[in-house]
Amino acid sequence: MKNKLREVLSVNNLKKSFILHNQNSFELPVFYNISFSLSKGECLVLSGSSGTGKSTLLRSIYGNYLTHLGEINIYHNQSWINLVGAPPHLILDVRKQTLGYVSQFLRVIPRISTLDLVAEPLLSRGETEVNSINRAKDILKKLAIPENLWNLPPATFSGGEQQRVNIAITFVRDFPILLLDEPTASLDTKNKQAVIDLIKNAKDKGTAIIGIFHDQSVRDSVGTTIFNIEEAKKAA
Ligand SMILES: Nc1ncnc2c1ncn2[C@@H]1O[C@H](COP(=O)(O)OP(=O)(O)OP(=O)(O)O)[C@@H](O)[C@H]1O
Ligand SMILES: [Mg+2]
Repeated sequence: MKNKLREVLSVNNLKKSFILHNQNSFELPVFYNISFSLSKGECLVLSGSSGTGKSTLLRSIYGNYLTHLGEINIYHNQSWINLVGAPPHLILDVRKQTLGYVSQFLRVIPRISTLDLVAEPLLSRGETEVNSINRAKDILKKLAIPENLWNLPPATFSGGEQQRVNIAITFVRDFPILLLDEPTASLDTKNKQAVIDLIKNAKDKGTAIIGIFHDQSVRDSVGTTIFNIEEAKKAA
C-alpha cells in the first residue's frame, strides 16, 4: 500500500499512438492502458521487449511527445498538475524545477567546455560560480571524466564519455523526479558502478525515478518496482 503523501507522479490510463503523415496518416498504436504511480525514493523499472514503447513512455512524460488520452499528474511547486494538454511554458517550468531526463545520447552543444556545461544548471538556478564549478568538478571526478578533458567541449569525446557527461549534467543538481533511459548502456563495469552509486544516492535523498535498464545487475541494485508495458496492454 503506497503512502499517498509521498506520491509525486501518477499516470492514469495513458495512451500514445503515432500518426504517420507520410503513410496516409496511418495510426501506429504504441501503448494504452498505462497506469502507475510513483513515490519519493522509489525506482520504477520499465520493462518490456524492444519496441514496446518504453522510451516513448519516458518521452511522453517529459513532454517530448504529445499524448491525447489519459493523465500524467505530477507534483510540481507544491501542487498537482496534469501534463497532458499542459501549455508549453508550464512544461518548461516543470523541466526546470521538477523533472530531469537522461536520454541515451548527449545533445551535443558545440564550443562550450564540459565543465561549463555541467556547471550551467546550477548557475541558472542562482548558485554562485565557485559552488557551481566545484560541484561540477566533483561529479565529473565521480564519473571518471579525465581532468584534461574538462576544458574541452564533449563533441569529440567517446560514446561512454559523452554518456557520462550527459549523466553529470542531470545529476549535478537534485531533481525531485528523474527519467533515465538506459543511462548505463555503453559503460564498463567500473563506470556502471559509479552511475549506480549516483542513482542510489539520489533515491536516498528522496528522488523518485523511472528508469529503463537493460542490464539485470543495474535493475537488481536500484529497482524497487517493475512495470511491464506488455502486461499492461494485455490487461486492457
Ligand atoms: N517518432 C516516432 N515516430 C513514429 N514511430 C515511432 C517514433 N518513436 C518511436 N516509434 C515507434 O514506437 C514503437 C516503440 O518505440 P520505443 O523506442 O518507445 O521502444 P522501446 O521499448 O524503447 O524499445 P528499445 O528497448 O529497443 O529501446 C516502435 O515501434 C517505434 O518504431
Ligand atoms: Mg528505448
